[in-house]
Amino acid sequence: MTATALASSPVAPLKEPPLVRGLPIIGNTLEMAKDPAKFFVRCYREYGPAFRVRVMGRTQTVLAGAEAANFLGTREGKDALRSKEFWDGLVKEYGATRTLTGTDGEDHKKLRDIMRHGFSREALRGRHAELVGITNRIFERDWKPGTDKPVLEAMQYLVVEQLGLILTGSAPLEYVKDIRTTILYILNILVTRQRPQFLLHNPKYKKSKAKVFELGQSMIRQYYASKDSKSPEEKNLIDAIMETHENRPDIMPQSDLILTLTGPYVAGLDTVANTTAATLYGVLKHPEVLRQIHAEVDAFFSGDSFAEEEVMKKLVVTNAAIMEAMRLWPIAVAQMRVANHDFGFAGYQVHKDEMIYIATSVPHFMQEFFPDPEKFDIGRYSKERSEHTQSGAYSPFGRGPHTCLGKTLAEVLMVLTMARIFWKLDLALESPDYELATKTTPTPGPATSFKVKIRGYRH
Ligand code: HEM
Repeated sequence: MTATALASSPVAPLKEPPLVRGLPIIGNTLEMAKDPAKFFVRCYREYGPAFRVRVMGRTQTVLAGAEAANFLGTREGKDALRSKEFWDGLVKEYGATRTLTGTDGEDHKKLRDIMRHGFSREALRGRHAELVGITNRIFERDWKPGTDKPVLEAMQYLVVEQLGLILTGSAPLEYVKDIRTTILYILNILVTRQRPQFLLHNPKYKKSKAKVFELGQSMIRQYYASKDSKSPEEKNLIDAIMETHENRPDIMPQSDLILTLTGPYVAGLDTVANTTAATLYGVLKHPEVLRQIHAEVDAFFSGDSFAEEEVMKKLVVTNAAIMEAMRLWPIAVAQMRVANHDFGFAGYQVHKDEMIYIATSVPHFMQEFFPDPEKFDIGRYSKERSEHTQSGAYSPFGRGPHTCLGKTLAEVLMVLTMARIFWKLDLALESPDYELATKTTPTPGPATSFKVKIRGYRH
């Protein structure tokens, strides 16, 4: 069966996507490993919206640019693409039958509906003050004035405690280290497959994974202990998952509980940590932006409390800095999919069962959408400019059926966290001319070597 999409005319024969020139044997592995976002932009410019790359001995098709981002959301795109294979390794490792991210079609819709509320910003209703409280405690405990702080690791610890609070009502302090270790192994080996499988035998990983299972079991026990005393407003993602297990074990079998219950850590840890670390760099590198943010957050936190519904309305500059960080340092450079059937894309032939990268971040770096694209410029998101709203231009949270389910939650979590960081701490880069060191494993973002100086407390 051949579905035809976009510019491909029904009569014109479809072309095979061109193979990107690379080195003998290793093909494009090095260039892609160094900076996948820039690599895809270069290929898009030279070869167009569909091309093939050779990476780690495999040839993969890449669909790129605004046309590819838009394709993910079309009926043809939804029918033509699936995610399953990319998550099979993780599902097997947990002894589960499936995961939200690796389920497609009708079953996927059902799972998303079950989890939608628990993953939305509604999950934070009434808990903003607690969230800020956690952030404060962490600053006082871990961010000592006069020291240099490795940012990425600090953010990973921060987000695990925050997600624990949102999910279970308390920060899982004794599990934070193990959650972080397990997730980093999972992302490196099972999801992005940048590290070999034998590392799963590493005793450090096995010990941490056992602790994450223990945490999952304790979430289940906690659910049964409190389920009869909770009001509907108090129910969270864990309740939604467990109630589905009790009422519809065909949708949520026992075997899938641990992976599903601890899943938010997989989804949230690296994504939020990378983005907040990148935001910190972008803002500290641009003193005029830092000044605007200081004015904004000092006004926001000037009283004893703040109105929750005002957060996104009042922290506009802080949020624009986060949006700009997600444009310049996107955590998901491309989405990984497999073709359900033969189809045409922009005049090119894509074959059934081919592995495909959908390089949705390419427009982030294109002058046509974001003038002077290398520049950290928070004015892009102003009402007048709204560069990110152009069709297919901006996709930090992905596109189509698997678009980030935690988007609205992540937005509030990140804006409050960053606002509190800038309010509380007087921070500086190691030196004003410091340029951000980046990494690509397990996911692209600031390198673990990126540090900031804590000069003191502002409040
Ligand atoms: C900066 C923060 C974040 C970014 C940039 C981000 C980005 C993404 C992207 C690009 C996808 C799509 C993956 C694909 O299509 O294959 C995704 C999916 C997802 N994200 Fe996020 N994410 C963030 C934070 C979070 C948080 C905090 C949570 C929840 C705790 C979350 C929950 C999810 C879930 C459940 C999915 C799977 C949706 C599905 O498969 O239907 N994300 N995210």
